[in-house]
Amino acid sequence: SGGSGVYQAEEARISQGVVENNHTGYSGTGFVNLANIAGSYAEWTIQSGTAVGATLDLRYANGTTMDRPMDIIVNGTRIATGRSFPPTANWDTWTTTSLPITLKAGTNTIRAISTTGDGGPNLDKITIH
Ligand code: GCU
Repeated sequence: SGGSGVYQAEEARISQGVVENNHTGYSGTGFVNLANIAGSYAEWTIQSGTAVGATLDLRYANGTTMDRPMDIIVNGTRIATGRSFPPTANWDTWTTTSLPITLKAGTNTIRAISTTGDGGPNLDKITIH
């Protein structure tokens, strides 16, 4: 396949963050609470049988009143800078933001990295389709 699938945040490689389940509405067994610092990230490793364009959906919650921007890095290339993750009313309310990505044949990495001292939103999962 072309990397299509659902990839939980709690199964990603996490740098400066923790898996938690103290809010509702997540899929899988929990979500990732990234540290409230710039540079905290989750990184997924995705296999794709072919080089292909796809859509990346990131499901997140942001229970604050402030944006929690992140950069999105695919295979080491920053494809989105300061991508907006606007408030979702509370930490139990999840929404999805989508962007186009390009996968290569073989192993791909997708990293969502916090860009401000507030850190990122809570991350539930990504879906590639
Ligand atoms: C609260 C919330 C966490 C969230 C954090 C944040 O502590 O319970 O789930 O990650 O705020 O501001 O990032």
